[in-house]
Amino acid sequence: MSVAQQRGLDEGWPRWGINFDAKTKLDEARLHQIFGRAAPLVMEIGFGMGEGTLMLAQQRPDWNYLALDVHGPGVGSLLNRLTEQRVEHVRVMRHDAVEVVCDMLGEEVLDAVHIYFPDPWPKLRHHKRRLIQPEFVRQLTRCLKVGGYLHLATDWQDYAEQMKSVLQAEASLSLSKAGYIPRPDWRPQTRFEVRGMGLGHGVWDLMAIRREFADVGVTNERFT
Ligand SMILES: C[S@@+](CC[C@H](N)C(=O)[O-])C[C@H]1O[C@@H](n2cnc3c(N)ncnc32)[C@H](O)[C@@H]1O
Repeated sequence: MSVAQQRGLDEGWPRWGINFDAKTKLDEARLHQIFGRAAPLVMEIGFGMGEGTLMLAQQRPDWNYLALDVHGPGVGSLLNRLTEQRVEHVRVMRHDAVEVVCDMLGEEVLDAVHIYFPDPWPKLRHHKRRLIQPEFVRQLTRCLKVGGYLHLATDWQDYAEQMKSVLQAEASLSLSKAGYIPRPDWRPQTRFEVRGMGLGHGVWDLMAIRREFADVGVTNERFT
């Protein structure tokens, strides 16, 4: 971690950081308190160095923005950006997204989930480490409001196909027939995406919408 990134963590965390705590449920009331206002909420998983996070947050001043990553230098870098730009409506967690979603996030609290270029784990024997798996998508869906969306992007074709079949199989999500969509104008190109394009990779975006609650049939036993 660079000196600047460490400073970002030391100085920015008390202002923008949320500590992981499985005993504290992030429900509507708690999120309202954390952000200091009620607003649509987008959660981004795996923001890397945070350039795209800052751009999207600045594009959407009327939304609250919850940004998750495990990588210390990237967290320090995003905290520096937030401090420099005085962005007030972003909060940052440095923790495994699976645990945050499964152990902390309440039902129907999110209006959007963004997961851009998750680690591709290209080797067959590592596919089980991929983030987009049926059980995790089921948990993300539980946290989405009806009408909320899940937006994924990858530069790895085999992972794109896995994402498509996982989203299609989730009964409580609607995916367009073709599955893939062109990159929406508002989605910034990410550092990882640009690197992949330089290597000749393609890019696949997918967007699924959460259906009616009655279709979901999932509750989180950890909260009951
Ligand atoms: C390939 S990078 C992509 C970063 C950025 N979205 C981009 O496109 O440039 C994947 C990111 O996901 C983060 N990550 C991986 N597994 C994670 C997890 N379980 N929870 C939170 N973040 C995770 C990594 O630390 C890394 O920053």
